[in-house]
Amino acid sequence: MIKFKKIPSSEITPEHIYYDRRNFIKNLGLILGSTALSSFTNKSFALLNTLPSFAQSKERDKEKLSSYKDITSYNNYYEFGTSKSDPQDHAHLLKIDPWSISIEGSVAKPLKLDIDELIKLIPLEERIYRLRCVEGWSMVIPWVGIPLHSLLKKVSPTGNAKYVEFISLKRPNEMIGQKDDMLDWPYTEGLRMDEAMHPLTILAVGLYGKVLPKQNGAPIRLVVPWKYGFKSIKAITKIRLVEKMPISTWMKANPKEYGFYANVNPEVDHPRWTQATERRIGENLLSPRLKTQMFNGYLEEVAHLYQGMDLNKNF
Ligand code: MTE
Repeated sequence: MIKFKKIPSSEITPEHIYYDRRNFIKNLGLILGSTALSSFTNKSFALLNTLPSFAQSKERDKEKLSSYKDITSYNNYYEFGTSKSDPQDHAHLLKIDPWSISIEGSVAKPLKLDIDELIKLIPLEERIYRLRCVEGWSMVIPWVGIPLHSLLKKVSPTGNAKYVEFISLKRPNEMIGQKDDMLDWPYTEGLRMDEAMHPLTILAVGLYGKVLPKQNGAPIRLVVPWKYGFKSIKAITKIRLVEKMPISTWMKANPKEYGFYANVNPEVDHPRWTQATERRIGENLLSPRLKTQMFNGYLEEVAHLYQGMDLNKNF
């Protein structure tokens, strides 16, 4: 078996330097526009120096980032196996160059782009989001990506576009977990149109100012911070705007346990465990569990999307 190529530690910006640089950029108040990246496929591009400062709330700023090591070695990515270390061990088998993503369906101007073209089209931003997994753990991750709404606007959605379906890759020779049919491949996910257009929803292409590692969904994955982590589909190849609510992989696999909305909600337990608390990966196992916040802390920003809905039924 080919050994997983680890990024040498010299290539990874240590957390404390990363913080200092971010604060430096922020203190200067620099809003740097789009990126001047030569080639996305060049692993060592200097994303960090081209990032705009990101206006965060004081509260979120105080949260300690999870380490690069934890973010890239404790993963859920069933295409490579079901244990947390499988993605790090096997994702190197996936070929991500060339890669294109198409946006189609109920749109006036369908698009097919490779990742280079995409990031030239829409400026990259940094967003620090908590990823709360339905299994009861969480991490704080500095993503680099583009707001999904910026991309969707480019394709001019028609009146029939009520939902957005995301489709991942199916390539069992490279994604060795797909030799097992425990899930219906390719992995798919869905959002309602207003959720997809929400400014918090991003397509990520990097983290910690580096190109997204394969185990985290390279070259492009979704991040919807107020929903459980399984909505954040990795290795996206197709985005389809559709009229009917898409049935996601997890809904198909177990409709009693996984619903379409999957909003982080400490008041609605998973049928087999509580969702009231979470364990932050990287913290001492003996540290007390943290209280999970409604909509993962984004109550103010997203509560209006679900006004009048029974969240016990629409879980
Ligand atoms: N995307 C694909 N294609 N396949 C998967 O198995 N797992 C999901 C989500 N995206 C998954 C996926 C789950 S359950 C979680 S919690 C997050 O990815 C984990 O993202 P991370 O490994 O970057 O923390």
